[in-house]
Amino acid sequence: MEIIILPSKEDCAKLGGQLIFNLVKGNPECVLGLATGSTPVPLYEELIRLHKEDNLSFSNVTSFNLDEYIGLSKNHPCSYRYFMQEQLFNSVDINFNSTHVPNGLADDIQVECEAYEQSILDAGGIDLQILGIGSDGHIGFNEPCSSLSSRTRMKTLTGETIKDNARFFESENDVPRHCITMGVGTILDTKSVLLFAFGEGKSDVISKAIEGPISSMVPASALQLHPKVKVILDEPAASKLVNIDYYKEVYANRPSS
Ligand code: F6R
Repeated sequence: MEIIILPSKEDCAKLGGQLIFNLVKGNPECVLGLATGSTPVPLYEELIRLHKEDNLSFSNVTSFNLDEYIGLSKNHPCSYRYFMQEQLFNSVDINFNSTHVPNGLADDIQVECEAYEQSILDAGGIDLQILGIGSDGHIGFNEPCSSLSSRTRMKTLTGETIKDNARFFESENDVPRHCITMGVGTILDTKSVLLFAFGEGKSDVISKAIEGPISSMVPASALQLHPKVKVILDEPAASKLVNIDYYKEVYANRPSS
């Protein structure tokens, strides 16, 4: 894991934008794995800026989102499909048919999940996966105790996630209890990962995920097994890392490429 600590989330978004810029310029047909929630918002703003000001085209890019609530239509303002349209897709030149978000209204959720896995394989796998992290250690909606080899499937949200996500809904009761999420195994199969975390509220879980043991109780800790992960943190999110000075030294002295 490469741990990168920058002063602000805007700095983190700039770096993430540059990495995605380089990937898409080098391979315009690349496959991006996308996340929702508040964490990737500054990154998506940066991608829109790069599209408008620096000619970054998404016209041949394919995308797969990590997850979707079960029971919300794509037009529901809290659905992840709606989020992606609003926060990114409507503002860049990506082809709608090349964007994939699990269908939370599928008649047969199991069939939907298997088809989602197959579409990722058919696209040649995910070149770069963007991740946030839940305060309970989830990535995607892989809640604590998720199998570390799990694939796309239905999950039940924990009470902590329901509380965390209630801010997007009118009330906690409106947060769906179930979702479709790529599995931890699906995420481990991606070719590279950028995990972002911002704010003091994420500092405990970040230290567990990066410096703690690999455990299904902290699904993000499985990323320790992934060969190509950059963890991009602002100072407050990094504040509880034991080896913080070492990570800063490694980054400051990184070989130029
Ligand atoms: C969303 C997702 C989740 C979020 C996590 C953090 O697609 O996969 O794992 O990344 O819940 O959410 P925020 O960024 O709102 O703190």
